[in-house]
Amino acid sequence: MARLLVINGPNLNRLGKREPHIYGSDTLSDLEQQLISFASQYEAELSCFQSNFEGEIIEQIHAAEGTYDGIILNAGAFTHYSYAIRDAIASVNVPVIEVHISNVHAREPFRHESVIAPVVSGQIVGLGFAGYRLAILALLEQAEGGERVWKK
Ligand code: DQA
Repeated sequence: MARLLVINGPNLNRLGKREPHIYGSDTLSDLEQQLISFASQYEAELSCFQSNFEGEIIEQIHAAEGTYDGIILNAGAFTHYSYAIRDAIASVNVPVIEVHISNVHAREPFRHESVIAPVVSGQIVGLGFAGYRLAILALLEQAEGGERVWKK
């Protein structure tokens, strides 16, 4: 059974209240429950973690090696300037997919750069919560091989 970890970074605990015209009206708990149930349809076990603290996110990434088959990471604003999170991703042998709910490229210029992009397996931006589900499928394909997951 594949084991995946979703990490949501700063301010994503405010989903549902925070700028709903950008991030929607569903809460972090809604998102996490949807993802756990989605992953279970593919016989995958999904854990969720959220923190507003850079060091806690780094420690989760370190601890994922040997425990998880992949990480789905929305690092929030840390995406744009945290070289420490970038180095943490590069330090572990676990595939990471970067997800952003909003289309960061259609927003303020500071959101156009991702310092973690060079060390992740892939990026999904602008597709709302669906981006997390697509990241789960991509990681399961990597973990289990072939196209079985996509054909379901
Ligand atoms: C975000 C985009 C970031 O620029 C922002 O700081 C966030 C959320 C997104 O999911 O669209 O906190 O990562």
